[in-house]
Amino acid sequence: MKLLGLSLAAALSPALVSADLAWKSVPDSKQLETATHVVPLDWADHSVGNATLAVMRYRSTGKPHLGSIFVNPGGPGESGLDMVSGLGQSLSEYTGGQYDIVSWDPRGVGATTPLVTCFESLAAEKAFWKGTVPDAGLEAKGNFTSQDDLDAFYAQADEVDSLLTELGKRCNQLSGGILPYVGTAAAVRDMVSLADAIEGKELINYWGFSYGTIIGSYFVNMFPNRVGRVIIDGVVDPIYWANLPSYKTWGDCITSAEDTFAGFTQACALAGYPSCALGNVGGAHTSPADISNWIHQLIDDAYDYKKQGGDIGSSDIRSYTLSEMYRPTEWPSLAQNLLDMYTQVKTGNAPSTPRPRFKFHRRDSTDPSTTPTPDPDPTTQPAPSYAFQAITCADAIDSENATTKDVFDEIVRVSRVISPLFGPSFGDAGFYCHRWGARAVERFTGPWNHTLSNPILVIGNEADPITPFANAKVVADLLGDSAVIIQQDDFGHSSLAERSNCTIAVVTEYFSHGKLPVENSMCGTNQILFPAIPVTKNTLASAAASASTPISSDADELNKLRQKNRILVAIDIALCALVLVLLAALVFNFIRSRKARAGAARSAKYDTAPAAMLKKDDFEGSSYGYTTPYDAPPARR
Ligand SMILES: *[C@@H]1O[C@H](CO)[C@@H](O)[C@H](O)[C@H]1NC(C)=O
Ligand SMILES: *[C@@H]1O[C@H](CO)[C@@H](O)[C@H](O)[C@H]1NC(C)=O
Ligand SMILES: *[C@@H]1O[C@H](CO)[C@@H](O)[C@H](O)[C@H]1NC(C)=O
Ligand SMILES: *[C@@H]1O[C@H](CO)[C@@H](O)[C@H](O)[C@H]1NC(C)=O
Ligand SMILES: *[C@@H]1O[C@H](CO)[C@@H](O)[C@H](O)[C@H]1NC(C)=O
Repeated sequence: MKLLGLSLAAALSPALVSADLAWKSVPDSKQLETATHVVPLDWADHSVGNATLAVMRYRSTGKPHLGSIFVNPGGPGESGLDMVSGLGQSLSEYTGGQYDIVSWDPRGVGATTPLVTCFESLAAEKAFWKGTVPDAGLEAKGNFTSQDDLDAFYAQADEVDSLLTELGKRCNQLSGGILPYVGTAAAVRDMVSLADAIEGKELINYWGFSYGTIIGSYFVNMFPNRVGRVIIDGVVDPIYWANLPSYKTWGDCITSAEDTFAGFTQACALAGYPSCALGNVGGAHTSPADISNWIHQLIDDAYDYKKQGGDIGSSDIRSYTLSEMYRPTEWPSLAQNLLDMYTQVKTGNAPSTPRPRFKFHRRDSTDPSTTPTPDPDPTTQPAPSYAFQAITCADAIDSENATTKDVFDEIVRVSRVISPLFGPSFGDAGFYCHRWGARAVERFTGPWNHTLSNPILVIGNEADPITPFANAKVVADLLGDSAVIIQQDDFGHSSLAERSNCTIAVVTEYFSHGKLPVENSMCGTNQILFPAIPVTKNTLASAAASASTPISSDADELNKLRQKNRILVAIDIALCALVLVLLAALVFNFIRSRKARAGAARSAKYDTAPAAMLKKDDFEGSSYGYTTPYDAPPARR
């Protein structure tokens, strides 16, 4: 690898620095506009070629106009354009209506070129994996302790190991060698260069969700002096992301997933039948434990059903249930769908209404839980995108001597000690990185504790199944006075999963007037979890305290919010739960004190203190403050 020259700014075409974007309006929309923006694939070596970023914005109507807010929906690999077209209006309202909401498809993703490509078709992808766990899922009863299940799993280690190596090579070839250029550090430079072209202002505003918080953490620490009003929401731990072996992120991701599941069983029991379709599985006084036991039994039954040739297995139930933990607005249909699956597993008959389709293809922007699928010809259907893997692995540290067996050991460990219910999902993209081969030419590895030009807002849900609150706390603690944290008293993934008027008020105040709460605060939610007898998260707390009847609420609002969330979820589903992209097919009652769990999660979060884990190398250039994307990065490793 070569070292950088330092005269990057000079080498850069001035056109790239200041070019205005040529915006075009989107047909049938008053507010949406698209444009493209050309950036060098390698910010340090323009001879490598260019990427053309697809950009979209939702124009504000409020006066005076305050500029742009960049947003990213997560993934990685999800489309910013989908987010702006689906949620631009809501995000505009939440942020006070005076900003344009702007996003782009990151390198390797969506309508941006070049794309990450790994297979010619869906059929080619299927044939490649031939029913191994990365595609078929991992069949496991109970909490994945049966020796037969473990043996069957480990028996695949060698085959999966060579497939992963082969996958890395294929993707590199079919993607035309762009894998070293799709990392997050480059994406952050792209965003800054976009902001320069659109706003020409010093300070950049940003709201990132899920993996979008990684873009956020990289941005504020790479460009600490360009931080305007920034929110990171549904936080991924950047230390796990950038400083630890990537296959270890899985356990961190799902630390709170069992808590979310406990919320589901409690809400369902409180709502009762028929508000919740599983509200009577234990008879007249069905308890949360009854519902949890019923679902665990369903997993075991589906396991047997699949072994006898059925088309639903334990892995499908686990993956599907985890995906619906992201979005409590779908809990009524989750309950119904689980009941339908039970019928199928018991009788072999598929339900007469179309079964929900759990396969998430990146370009799907329809609601996966309601769209019936005619199952078109897989040889002409496009293969799923592997941008998720490409971006995750581009950012990952080198995997030293990790093997696929180490990855499998970690999945077993996570299933034992973190989440017996969801641990066996073979999901996380980090599982691919030790054999991926390519790494980004520029990787940012911290430090994560810069003093920022403006304090940022960090938002975490109390029981987020895939980005636990402990992560929000880590990021905010590292930033010290440069961050304020809002804990949303909420289930689901990111603050948008359940409506909180309190959080929305904080967000509006921040973007409109630059004001943040003086200290870290808690925000309640207004979301109804089960409609007929409106159960909210608050109701659960008061029911636990006093066994009182649920408060009443407005079902109309629920429907509106569902519509919104539906759009969101189609585009914000991926982090860690790669099952949703890759595992085709459909896709306990451990109610302990949540406080106790969160505390344990935090102290067990790192084997050693974060600072000690970082190698000295990681601080190369740590005093370096980038101010433009055109600055040279620290020497490459
Ligand atoms: C990249 O784009 C810039 C600006 O449009 C152009 O000047 C340059 O020639 C392009 N580079 C390559 C390698 O195509
Ligand atoms: C897993 O199941 C075994 C056998 O049923 C049980 O002994 C063990 O306590 C369970 N572990 C967890 C973490 O639930
Ligand atoms: C790599 O090998 C060393 C020495 O055998 C061992 O201590 C370390 O745990 C290994 N690392 C991984 C990720 O397996
Ligand atoms: C939350 O805000 C919405 C929109 O302003 C409003 O319609 C709704 O009544 C509010 N809910 C509560 C519980 O205040
Ligand atoms: C930031 O973190 C690094 C590594 O942990 C540490 O060496 C440094 O002192 C910290 N800086 C501040 C300002 O806390």
